[in-house]
Amino acid sequence: MFYDESLVEEIRIQNDIIEVIGQHIKLQKKGSSHFGLCPFHNEKTPSFSVSADKQMYYCFGCGASGNVYTYVMEYENYSFVDAIKVLADRVHINLPEPEMSEETKKAYQYKQKLFDANRDAARYFYQGLLSEKGEKALTYLNERELSETIRKKFGLGYAYFFRDDLYKYMVSKGYSEQMLLDTGLIAVENGNANAYRDRFFNRVMFPIFDIHNRVIGFGGRVLDDSQPKYLNSPETRLFDKSKNLYGLNIARNARKGHIIVVEGYMDVIALHQAGYNQTVASLGTAFTQGQGNLLKRYIDEIIIAYDSDSAGVNASVRAIPILENAGLIVRIANLLPYKDPDDYIKSKGAVAFESVISAATPAFIFEINQLETKYKLDDPESKTRFFSEIARRLVHMENELKRENYLETILDKYQIKKEAMNKEMELLGKDVGIVQEQKQTQIEEKSRRNEEATLVTEKNLLGFVVGHRDIYDAINQLIKPDMLLDETYQRLATMIYKAYDEDTSLEPARFINQFVEVDEQTKVARVFNHNIHVESQGQLEKMLNDLVYHIKKQYIDYMARKVSSPSDLQALLDEKRSIQNLNITLKQRN
Ligand code: UTP
Ligand code: MN
Repeated sequence: MFYDESLVEEIRIQNDIIEVIGQHIKLQKKGSSHFGLCPFHNEKTPSFSVSADKQMYYCFGCGASGNVYTYVMEYENYSFVDAIKVLADRVHINLPEPEMSEETKKAYQYKQKLFDANRDAARYFYQGLLSEKGEKALTYLNERELSETIRKKFGLGYAYFFRDDLYKYMVSKGYSEQMLLDTGLIAVENGNANAYRDRFFNRVMFPIFDIHNRVIGFGGRVLDDSQPKYLNSPETRLFDKSKNLYGLNIARNARKGHIIVVEGYMDVIALHQAGYNQTVASLGTAFTQGQGNLLKRYIDEIIIAYDSDSAGVNASVRAIPILENAGLIVRIANLLPYKDPDDYIKSKGAVAFESVISAATPAFIFEINQLETKYKLDDPESKTRFFSEIARRLVHMENELKRENYLETILDKYQIKKEAMNKEMELLGKDVGIVQEQKQTQIEEKSRRNEEATLVTEKNLLGFVVGHRDIYDAINQLIKPDMLLDETYQRLATMIYKAYDEDTSLEPARFINQFVEVDEQTKVARVFNHNIHVESQGQLEKMLNDLVYHIKKQYIDYMARKVSSPSDLQALLDEKRSIQNLNITLKQRN
């Protein structure tokens, strides 16, 4: 950890969870909890509860849960450290500088300075657009029907036509020449070491933000038909085109269930203005795997809405496997007869675009449609090869249900007989070993289910333990924290055992601070939200016996695979036999 535990805890205590969550969603008090609409999944009736006593939240609909840090991390997609910073700031607690080596510190400070330089430049361009010298550019943007609100939201600006306008301004602000070169905003002209020139002049400027709303680069557009139409910042220390997306700083919080990927800056802005704030664009380059993985952090489904010309279609064909590789579900929008989303919105209006989204074609069908154009369906030879290729792609589809559904659609569409297609697929299947593949997934599936069952068992046992000291007393000699298979539960159990042994309070929200990742925090929070209804003491005792038995058995089996000496193995087998006769009893409870 970067910060002292007690400081992290102090910040948590001062940030009342009801207030923090109340900034985003409307909460209503009901009994001891507050309820509201869950910000982490779509719902119409509130199942999101926040407890002032526990300083935790829990959603009965989607299972989201945690303390105030988890909430900020989930809601803003922040790291733990970022969440600490934001919440410290909120209650005016000064954080100490994290400990860094002199060198790291210097590099860090220089980077911060580069961010400052970019921000100052963006502000200068912004002022430029609104000043007299930006008149033409402002007219241009007005003609493109951009509102003042959207101009501000995207920080659009104007770079004046003198080729050293920005350079002079930045020097007057005290930035060194080396630093200006490092921003990519200024370049040395034709090897003449003293001729510093602005990279962007006489262009409408689009600042590019990272997900933390810091300016990392720019795109600039000419006001007429001259070339190049767009110019972009070069790659710099701050600007990695393959790991950022234009508009993602906004789209990542849009919560529409999907993100729309378009080609151009103007498409992003036009769609945001029309209310589709879930839109992003790659940055003047082809879509990359890094960008795909980045998107997967925020969303599961992508709608590609590239230009409708052949370049756009080809770009879609290339982007699909990249996105699918990242684990995303992909659909392709059809904008015809319009050129691009900007053009579509201008002609048909914002509301009509809804239907473009809902009618977007699943990637597999889109690919088959594209493939079809390469064959002649009135030629039996060509047609056979086409169907054979479809069969090959179906065989390679991993999910059986998905394969079955697409098969139906394809049979229907091309009027193919099911037996014929199945035969073809079987033939191909032998080649790629589809049968084996399926067996393998079945085995994986089974072991995955076992693992899940174990996790549930461990969670349930801890859930009982945190609520009741007598249960702890009854089981702590039988189950040691390191017998739990799950690492998070192991760490949590260690903390719980320690708290009981030292007789300190088991405050769930404090425990959560000890975990850095959202997933871990959620897992821990769920232990504390554990709520199994028990009819009688007898039933509770039986449950505990079952839980302890299962965990011990898993642990023994696991150890048995690792030990090599026969005597160790024998000891484990003896232990395994002994747990058949577990008899956990609790003192009479009242
Ligand atoms: P488009 O030419 O389709 O842009 O290029 P657009 O958004 O429709 O532009 P407008 O509507 O004419 O203003 C799509 C994207 O490709 C990159 C830019 O990122 C642009 O937004 N591009 C295009 C360049 O980097 N350089 C160019 O010269 C042209
Ligand atoms: Mn375009």
